[in-house]
Amino acid sequence: MARAFVAEGAAVVIADIDAAGGAAMVAELGEAARFVVLNVTKEQSWLDAFATCGPLDVLVNNAGITTLGSIEDVTLDQFRHELDIDVLGVFMGTKHVLPLMKEKGGSIINMSSLAGIRATGTLVAYNAAKAAVTLMTKSCALHFAAQGYPIRCNSIHPGAIHTPIIDKVLAQSDDPDALYASFVASHPIGRLGKPEEIAAIAVYLASDESLFATGAEFRIDGGASI
Ligand SMILES: NC(=O)c1ccc[n+]([C@@H]2O[C@H](COP(=O)([O-])OP(=O)(O)OC[C@H]3O[C@@H](n4cnc5c(N)ncnc54)[C@H](O)[C@@H]3O)[C@@H](O)[C@H]2O)c1
Repeated sequence: MARAFVAEGAAVVIADIDAAGGAAMVAELGEAARFVVLNVTKEQSWLDAFATCGPLDVLVNNAGITTLGSIEDVTLDQFRHELDIDVLGVFMGTKHVLPLMKEKGGSIINMSSLAGIRATGTLVAYNAAKAAVTLMTKSCALHFAAQGYPIRCNSIHPGAIHTPIIDKVLAQSDDPDALYASFVASHPIGRLGKPEEIAAIAVYLASDESLFATGAEFRIDGGASI
């Protein structure tokens, strides 16, 4: 997404807990991008990150993890950790970006998932977290509209996209090959998605071409949700 935004001429602040990964992206993208360390689970970290920014046009709440396991497998600590990153992170990011966005207006893009719409027996924590993001997005969209803030808030719902998160999920499985084959089989298009196919939706939601879209679920999943 950072690559796609820079290609559109945006100035991008990449914020992540992974400082080495952030530095590598900035080295690739040049002066259109800069990096700030952010732990989305810590409120002070959000405030510190936003303190380095002027008015912002776009916030992408993208940080996330996927905990594999059913209600019988997942521990309370694992469940809390999933919600801390995937839900409380989105809540704090959205809450604290408002002072930087209220006046000029902007677009908040929340990364939910197909798993935020449809359940899987082995994704109890991830389903709970991403479903929370789906409706938090709509609640924020309604609030911004009611207050007359020129801010839109939408959610993206990818199917399985081949990024490092997939490798981390496979590493949690007893049978990674079978799990990968099941990912492919669940997408009628017959393959996993590519990160750039998600980035294109984010660019659209960030742009004025999507000015009438708010509170909406953007599914991009190779037909998996049909
Ligand atoms: N890849 C998929 O199949 C898929 C499908 C649906 C939704 N998603 C969602 O897309 C988003 C991006 O995932 P991805 O596939 O690029 O995975 P990824 O693992 O490559 O990226 C996740 C990023 O979040 C960062 N992160 C983790 N914990 C953090 C924290 N506490 N503070 C700040 N940053 C933190 C990681 O360092 C990493 O850069 C996630 O929200 C994920 O749930 C991914």
